[in-house]
Amino acid sequence: MFNSKIIGTGHYVPKTKVSNDDLSKMMDTNDEWIQERTGIQERRWADKALDETATTMAVKASEMAIQKAGLKNEEIDFIIFATLSPDYYFPGGGVQLQHLLGMPTVGALDVRAQCSGFIYAISVADQFIKTGMYKNILVVGAESQSGLLDKTTRGRNMAVIFGDGAGAAVLTRTEDNAKGVLSTHLHSEGQYAEELALLSPNPSKWVKHFENNEEDLSYYPYMNGPFVFKHAVTRFSEAIVEGLEQNKIESNDIDLLIPHQANLRISQFVQKKFRLSNDQVFNNIQKYGNTTAASIAIALSEAVEEGKVKENDLVVLAAFGSGFTWGSVILRW
Ligand code: UT7
Repeated sequence: MFNSKIIGTGHYVPKTKVSNDDLSKMMDTNDEWIQERTGIQERRWADKALDETATTMAVKASEMAIQKAGLKNEEIDFIIFATLSPDYYFPGGGVQLQHLLGMPTVGALDVRAQCSGFIYAISVADQFIKTGMYKNILVVGAESQSGLLDKTTRGRNMAVIFGDGAGAAVLTRTEDNAKGVLSTHLHSEGQYAEELALLSPNPSKWVKHFENNEEDLSYYPYMNGPFVFKHAVTRFSEAIVEGLEQNKIESNDIDLLIPHQANLRISQFVQKKFRLSNDQVFNNIQKYGNTTAASIAIALSEAVEEGKVKENDLVVLAAFGSGFTWGSVILRW
């Protein structure tokens, strides 16, 4: 059987920086609260004047990843696109990527696992490569969430956290089973779907959308923050333990943990639990906020660019988010 390996990574973030002070002009919040509770200093918002969307950002991240992989667009056999903020309700963004990247008529699949989307997408790519069905797969996580947020005091617990951006990775076939994706671990618990959700547009109450009822809050994302936080710290840890146990490795064997950038406090909790040093954990939430399906993809690309991921390193990716969904990927670089 084949194995899959990441051979190129890329990312793109919008130019527009939104500081905590900028947000405090829109809602009742302040820099001290945001930094203390989340670690976030600023985030990027898609540029409306440039018509930036999840897909246009995904194109830029993909181009970088494909170029770093040393491939041409037409050598990609399949696209997997993770996003909760596609340009259209349907179709998903994968088909737009196929078109905008000028690719032949390869298959394109959208993954809807929110903050765990990139983990799920890597896992799907890994299965397709292991079975020999595809050789080169483009995996993308991209989000344009700023337009969805309730940017008033009512929505401040979410508005201060989420940001926009895109990250991508190209996976290819390898016959070296000691390298690449060693294992992936996926979970969900749908009973908590409404603890972090955007309920509309929803075909079962489609008509409301057209009534344009401003009192209908179902068009804004909702999060029960403390509840999500509690589950996140538990599930992040479980997903990492599961991956370590399956591969018979210890936490101190981890060269780099890239946690989904949900909240710096969550990353720090996980770091402490596994007794990891600052060098063993990559965080960039300070600059970008929580970019949902894009977060691990952007962080991985930045870590590679900064030389923090070296040949043979053991890299662990872990995520938790809306669904609830969570999971991990264990990689030998
Ligand atoms: O990526 C997917 C997974 N997402 C997560 O993992 C996020 C998990 N949750 C969190 O990160 C945190 O729950 C938040 C950062 C969202 C909130 O932090 P918290 O420490 O859990 O605060 P809280 O929701 O318990 O609210 C504490 C207080 C409340 O005021 P009162 O009732 O004590 O007077 C909130 O109204 O902080 C208030 N508050 C704010 N104040 C200033 C909530 N948001 C803000 C804000 N600025 N932006």
